[in-house]
Amino acid sequence: MKDKLYKLKQEFLVKLSEVKDLENLKELELRFLSRKGELGELMKNIKDLSGDLRKEVGQVANKIKNELQESFYQVSAKFIKNTNNTLIDPTLPGLKQQSGHLNPITLVQNELEDLFSSLGFIIEDGPELESDYFNFTALNVPPLHPARDMQDTFYVDLKNSQGERDLLMRTQTSPVQIRAMLKYGAPLKVVIPGRVFRNEATDARHEHTFYQLEGMIVAKDINFSNLKSLLEIVGKRLFGPDTKLRMRPKFYPFVEPGNNGEYTCFLCQGQGCRVCKNTGWLEIVGAGLVHPDVLRAGGLDPEVYSGLAFGFGLTRLAMLKYNINDARLFSSGDIKFLEQF
Ligand code: DAH
Repeated sequence: MKDKLYKLKQEFLVKLSEVKDLENLKELELRFLSRKGELGELMKNIKDLSGDLRKEVGQVANKIKNELQESFYQVSAKFIKNTNNTLIDPTLPGLKQQSGHLNPITLVQNELEDLFSSLGFIIEDGPELESDYFNFTALNVPPLHPARDMQDTFYVDLKNSQGERDLLMRTQTSPVQIRAMLKYGAPLKVVIPGRVFRNEATDARHEHTFYQLEGMIVAKDINFSNLKSLLEIVGKRLFGPDTKLRMRPKFYPFVEPGNNGEYTCFLCQGQGCRVCKNTGWLEIVGAGLVHPDVLRAGGLDPEVYSGLAFGFGLTRLAMLKYNINDARLFSSGDIKFLEQF
């Protein structure tokens, strides 16, 4: 046994003296010094020896192990130093650090989140896989209501916790209005940014997946001038201090009265251009006063509380703001696109 150990040491030292590069060195370490290497295997047998012999051989083996390791370290230190000396030229310019870019939708979302939190709104999240109830029924769009046609979506063949098959990809961030009322009660000021889905044939202006930002205030005595002044503040912040707002009636089942908020086109200052289709106005936000049925679905008494709600298309805002002409670019994963922001 001792002989074998001495022979191993001899062989190792010879090989070590012949090492030419780091690669050789690694091979040597693996073959001799690693736990499954030749020395390790030999040492495993020591425990089978008897009494004094085991002690003696054990001591020799340990000594040899230390010696081999010591000489290995010396040689490897020399190699690593040499290699560094040849590889690193401190006079060369450094490698450029690549940093990521935020998607333009994230930029717009951050801007709106900053604005609304400065106005005292909380920021809430909700599930993208939503129940039919929250996405439609609780928002005053019962089954078979024609308003469902405008928001066709992807129905999911899974059962919810009650064993019903009523899950779908949410078509709007509005269902989180209901969730927020049930969670926080009133008074409440909340915005909900998030991803939504529709069963669309995609083209430059339509994507099956896009982003919205929903907002809601519920309290006592909320009225239409509260809504109008709020949307005016948001418009000036988004598009500059001279921005004007006009509100035109539009049907949304979850608000009454419902309307479309339009801002003077920031590209042509309301003069009329290609982007605003020569009207001077951009349709930016759906809004209204919360329908009593929606307050009820949120667990609130419409005789006591009233509310306002609005929904921005973040994807559309980002397209306008950054002059992006194809909605499909946002999730294309094209680095050349993202690097511009
Ligand atoms: N959820 C609507 C949509 O996706 C947008 C909207 C309109 C939200 C009016 C609202 C609202 O909160 O009051 O088209």
